[in-house]
Amino acid sequence: MDKNKNNKAIWNSRIKKKSSALFQKIGSSINIDKRLYKEDILGSIAHVEMLFRQKIITFKIKNKIIYGLQKIEKDILKNKFDFNEKHEDIHINIEKKLFEIIGEEAGYIHTARSRNDQVLVDFKIWIKNANREINSNLDKIINSILKLAEANIMTIMPGFTHMKNAQPTSFAHYLMAYVEMFSRDKKRLEFNLENLNENPLGVVALTGTSFNIDRNYTTKKLGFKKPTNNSIDTVADRDFVLDFLYSISVCSLHISRIAEELIIWNSDGFKLIHLSDKIVTGSSIMPQKKNPDLLEYLRGKTGTSFASFFSMLTILKGLPLSYFKDLQDDKEITFKSFDTLINCLKILNEVLKNISPNKKEMIRLAESGYITATDLADYLVKNYSMSFRKAYQKTAEIVNMAEKKKKKLKDLKLEELKKIEPKLKDDVLKVFDLKNSVNSKKSYGGTSFENIKKMIMKYKKK
Ligand code: ARG
Repeated sequence: MDKNKNNKAIWNSRIKKKSSALFQKIGSSINIDKRLYKEDILGSIAHVEMLFRQKIITFKIKNKIIYGLQKIEKDILKNKFDFNEKHEDIHINIEKKLFEIIGEEAGYIHTARSRNDQVLVDFKIWIKNANREINSNLDKIINSILKLAEANIMTIMPGFTHMKNAQPTSFAHYLMAYVEMFSRDKKRLEFNLENLNENPLGVVALTGTSFNIDRNYTTKKLGFKKPTNNSIDTVADRDFVLDFLYSISVCSLHISRIAEELIIWNSDGFKLIHLSDKIVTGSSIMPQKKNPDLLEYLRGKTGTSFASFFSMLTILKGLPLSYFKDLQDDKEITFKSFDTLINCLKILNEVLKNISPNKKEMIRLAESGYITATDLADYLVKNYSMSFRKAYQKTAEIVNMAEKKKKKLKDLKLEELKKIEPKLKDDVLKVFDLKNSVNSKKSYGGTSFENIKKMIMKYKKK
């Protein structure tokens, strides 16, 4: 085997001059897409097996190619593979190495295949695996939240709207809201599978091939569900990348919401939760400080996720069909977004294991802001067949009176309440009890203790 010949670009029979060093550097993506080596070898093996079954290549050539590919995979795993920028990307790096190992017969591997369909196979398989990895990290987060929720079903705190005390709820109910979000994130990635499961292999450069290939065979072999329908669309399509980046963006947005929530609850203004020393940092000048840097890091990283999604949208917008070099950026963008998310999921899980509610403060805050006013209005409707609007009005008058007297609702005497609604009886006073209020919201999805318990059990079973 002539080593020098192998060192030349694949297209050197047509393009006579060596590319400029600068162009070679810019055009090369090997340092990024070498991550696809496993998928690339998997796809190549399925491809040559199919070529043999269809009598396009011989048994001997097929075996030689597979032998070479498997050797390459082992070498890469052992860090014995020299990724070469000169050979542009992972596909050409592997092909070049195959020539070195098995000689000229390596040239049969590219029959009825282009890098255009090759890279799509690699990338779709990679994203499917990435989905799995994200979901297993989400499972860990969900488990950690469930644990924290289970220990805090009876931990009463104010529920907020507009950042103002709204109605009493349980810390567990708040936490379980995030279980819903992270579960939807998992589902979102699973929904994406339908498109990811369409096999691009065999669309070749953009129009298909005159060889008698069997796309159903490679579809099955590579774990796809069906071959894609239109060769031009397939080569140009990166919707599956958008789906992935969008799903990551939403997940990362959920992470930033919980991070922000915890930052606020941990602030000196709220003091609702405590962060263990494991997850806080000090200040370089203010000795008293314990800062929630990790949470801020999580909140900030959403920028990377959104940027990745928008980069890909921008690359695709107005791009004619089918392949253009513009598309090569898809992998760098995707890998960065994925790595960032995995990192954030791991951090969030660590954070969740290191927070605890400040129960006294939660109650203290829940007792301010006339938080049980809606309970009083509901009581009036139920006991005096008042319309809700009428009850709302009466309750507002009672709140006004409490405010004027600088009293909490629960500290008002029956006589005082009767001045506004003479029909009121003693048992009205129980509506101001926080626990009673939380536990009365028994409608499906509501905050009653029983509901929360059931929901935690449901997710634990999953
Ligand atoms: N590394 C290339 C990419 O990901 C593979 C496809 C190359 N195709 C081509 N026509 N240049 O975009």
